[in-house]
Amino acid sequence: MRFPERVRIVEVGPRDGLQNEAATVPLDVKVELVDRLAATGLASIEAGAFVSPKWVPRMADSAAVYGRIARRPETAYPALVPNMQGLEAAFAAGVAEIAIFVSASDGFSLKNIACTRAESLERLAPVAEAAIAAGLRVRGYVSCIAGCPYDGDVPPADVAMMANALAGMGCYEVSLGDTIGIGTAGQIRDVIDRVAAQLAREAIAMHFHDTYGQGVANVLAGLEEGISVFDSSVAGLGGCPYAPGARGNVATEDVLYLLHGLGIETGVDFGAVAETGGWISDRLGRANASRAGSAHLAKSGDGDGR
Ligand code: HMG
Ligand code: MG
Repeated sequence: MRFPERVRIVEVGPRDGLQNEAATVPLDVKVELVDRLAATGLASIEAGAFVSPKWVPRMADSAAVYGRIARRPETAYPALVPNMQGLEAAFAAGVAEIAIFVSASDGFSLKNIACTRAESLERLAPVAEAAIAAGLRVRGYVSCIAGCPYDGDVPPADVAMMANALAGMGCYEVSLGDTIGIGTAGQIRDVIDRVAAQLAREAIAMHFHDTYGQGVANVLAGLEEGISVFDSSVAGLGGCPYAPGARGNVATEDVLYLLHGLGIETGVDFGAVAETGGWISDRLGRANASRAGSAHLAKSGDGDGR
């Protein structure tokens, strides 16, 4: 089996993780989290969302986060944008990359962004066009690629249709999200195969939630399918407010441990991410959901640098 030599991790903890926290997370903590993550070598950190604060109150201070983080020239800090109003806010905050998001199922689309799949594509086409015209990079997400909390099974052809539509709008990469963490490796491979029939594998990223504990196995399935970009969140933070029961993303530490063990380069310091995972778990008063991170921290500084 030939794996990619290098993998890019898109760290989504500050957005996908913190959007779902029960308690308000102080602005200082958000800013420090992003800055600490950037210092570990992560090349892409999703730092906030310009969505309606009525829908996702935890992201209401995203403009302030972007105003205060110490932006590194080599790091991308994408922000989620659901509509033109969000794009205006992202422009005002000086964001250089946005992520637009749709669902492969109508049920989740209606609950998450109050419109059908078809309507979401109509709404987002001018957003992508305006962002690209202004020189921003645009990433796309398709949710519910392995099942929907409202509609049940989701045909891979529907995932491919939405992924294609996003690529057609100019997204440089489309991230396929198992929003409720329900998929298993064979199913994930089938979905990737279906999407890859129309989209280059280099333009596909995978975004796994770890609800059923399949995150790392599904990353391996993605590698076997030639995927080389994975979204993950430090300490396994996360969930989606409109996907009941959904757990956090697969933990960045767990993904790094797998990748480095396979000899795949990431440019990320595993030990530094583990330290950050311990720090943010303490600050949020929650258990560290990363197995590899917890194991590393338990060795109290006896890390091997993987
Ligand atoms: P709507 O209620 O239909 O919107 O929601 P609207 O246009 O009718 O506006 C209603 C109110 O929201 C108005 O305020 C607008 O100003 C305001 P009011 O007049 O009532 O005071 N509003 C906004 N405020 C700030 N920023 C904006 C914005 N837009 C409208 N951009 C809408 C439609 C899309 C806005 C809403 O449904 C929404 O914001 N949804 C976002 C939900 C969300 O963020 N979910 C989590 C992220 S997706 C995810 O986690 C999945 C992912 O991780 C991948 C995976 O795991 O699969 C990406
Ligand atoms: Mg997600």
